[in-house]
Amino acid sequence: MTRPKGFTVWFTGLSGAGKTTLATALASELGLCGLKVEILDGDEVRSNLSKGLGFSKEDRDTNIRRIGYVSRLLARNGAGVIAAAISPYREVRDEVRRTIESEGAAFIEVFVKCPIDVLAERDVKGLYKKALAGEIKEFTGVSDPYEEPLDPEVVVETDRETIEQSARKIVQELTRQGFLRTDRENARSQTPIRIEHVPEAA
Ligand SMILES: Nc1ncnc2c1ncn2[C@@H]1O[C@H](COP(=O)(O)OP(=O)(O)O)[C@@H](O)[C@H]1O
Ligand SMILES: [Mg+2]
Repeated sequence: MTRPKGFTVWFTGLSGAGKTTLATALASELGLCGLKVEILDGDEVRSNLSKGLGFSKEDRDTNIRRIGYVSRLLARNGAGVIAAAISPYREVRDEVRRTIESEGAAFIEVFVKCPIDVLAERDVKGLYKKALAGEIKEFTGVSDPYEEPLDPEVVVETDRETIEQSARKIVQELTRQGFLRTDRENARSQTPIRIEHVPEAA
């Protein structure tokens, strides 16, 4: 059996849940392991590849399909991709999953879960206050839908876990799927697990 070519770690979750934070933490951890990874962050994509798109269902779906398309191109060539966009609709996420898996690459859906009251308290970008006051229409989780994943590979609960704990769960899943190998000596000790990249089988 040949191993999957590359992978896409697909973060989904409400604004402020921790997608960008975890994407950055994961990328630096994987980089240390010698893996080539690229981050496709929702906010950043909206300022270039998806410039001009709004927040209607149609525009949101288009944005996600574009991120999915680029992820597919990279993942099928052996790269690791970390996509971090709200991606509120289950159907489009599942569509992206199918296109990536059809290339023999892995799709690892990570549900970045956090209760809305905690998000409103964090209010990283000051948007919840406005949304809850009715000043922003089409705000996911407040005035626009968010469909939770039904069977994600990983669930992180960012109101209960540290960034390191959440990132670790994803690293463990990548290890389980054969993209990383844990150093047994370190795994037995209390020190953080050191991970090395498993070279592509010849
Ligand atoms: N376990 C965790 N994982 C990710 N972020 C966390 C966690 N715990 C607390 N946070 C905090 O939550 C906020 C998440 O913001 P951000 O990553 O910009 O969210 P998003 O990209 O989902 O909109 C940051 O301020 C981060 O420090
Ligand atoms: Mg973000």
